[in-house]
Amino acid sequence: MATATADRQQIQQRLDDARARTDEIFALLEPEALYERPIPERHRLIFYLGHVEAFDWNLIPRGALGAPPFDADFDRLFAFGIDPVGGGLPNEPASQWPARERVLEYNARLRRALDDAVSGADLEKLDGGSRFEVAIEHRLMHAETLAYLVHQLPHTMKRRPAGAENSGDVSPAVIRHVGIPAGRATLGRSRARGFGWDNEFDELAVEVPAFAIDSHPVTNRGWLEFLDAGGYRERRFWSEADWAWRTGHGIEHPLLWARDGGGWHYRGMFDDVPLPLEHPVYVSHAEASAFAHWANRALPTEAQFHRAAYGTPQGVEREFPWGDEPPAPIRGNFDFARWDPVPVSAHPAGASAFGVHDLLGNGWEWTSTAFAPLPGFTPFPFYRGYSADFFDGKHFVIKGGSARTAACMLRRSFRNWFQPHYPYLYAKFRLVGA
Ligand SMILES: [Fe+2]
Repeated sequence: MATATADRQQIQQRLDDARARTDEIFALLEPEALYERPIPERHRLIFYLGHVEAFDWNLIPRGALGAPPFDADFDRLFAFGIDPVGGGLPNEPASQWPARERVLEYNARLRRALDDAVSGADLEKLDGGSRFEVAIEHRLMHAETLAYLVHQLPHTMKRRPAGAENSGDVSPAVIRHVGIPAGRATLGRSRARGFGWDNEFDELAVEVPAFAIDSHPVTNRGWLEFLDAGGYRERRFWSEADWAWRTGHGIEHPLLWARDGGGWHYRGMFDDVPLPLEHPVYVSHAEASAFAHWANRALPTEAQFHRAAYGTPQGVEREFPWGDEPPAPIRGNFDFARWDPVPVSAHPAGASAFGVHDLLGNGWEWTSTAFAPLPGFTPFPFYRGYSADFFDGKHFVIKGGSARTAACMLRRSFRNWFQPHYPYLYAKFRLVGA
């Protein structure tokens, strides 16, 4: 019984911490920003204000415990986000959305209902408590994707929190090709190891042939070479679909780069700075693939990423690149440490056993692996579409994490995925091959 009480207190604490992360994002916004749609493919920001609460409510008090709805229209309105692939863009007017005050009242009621469930509900009805894990990590994922959205707003619509200055540059990282001997990479997770999302199960051992991988991700400096070599203009570096996307959207540089009279700038979360040459470049999968063709190399597979990150010369596999100790600030730029990237060589204490740097944090890393189920995949009965809706060959696995990825999702088995023409996430890449 004492254990159950301690468990409930721990769940409440983690839920409160996760709520603080989404509250923090909304607190950055000037009032008029809440009705903006910073990314054309996504909802207006007001949707997310209701969504992170309605999701929890629909999942637990209403969905599992049978609480009667008090605003079924809001429950539906705020239920689902969108990820259109090749579909039309949303275009409803801002006036169609309810007033902020009404959403906040709705939210406060939902939070009370969820807190009551944490302290008193029968955990058996909550799939042994895993619905709480889903609620907490779902919210933390939105804390990150909200950062992508808010990043696209003009700086004048945001209030800079204390301590959000951009990091300066350092001397250039020496990027080496690191030889990784043939060996085993364990993807996924065994069910005995506790909570994971549906796509993390089951464990899968893959024998990976020897390969070479970059010691650091590609930097803005490296990207300038590709750009100056005409990389965006050379049709042959791009697949047909990627070229159609590039030309159709007039894309000629990374999304967060801007050119003014004096040269390139990086559009940071709160201000523009001269392009930090030692920071990782954030690009879409399409752009990263074109760079790989230009360099006559390739993006790593998901298994190669695992092998470089978690493998060791001795053959045992680690929980994290640096070892088995939990994530700490010295290991990488993650767990909401900053709002923008840092130089790729800033965290030598996070390097893997093979000497590969900056694998966790500072930007997710694109792989060449299409998102697909591991053997043994079973969708959550209460969230069937979480992964299964995206096993379409049109989404690619990303690994690692960004400055805005919570520490709990830096676990080895965690998988994330995006379509190749979505340039808004904090995603970098590195190359494999001689
Ligand atoms: Fe969501």
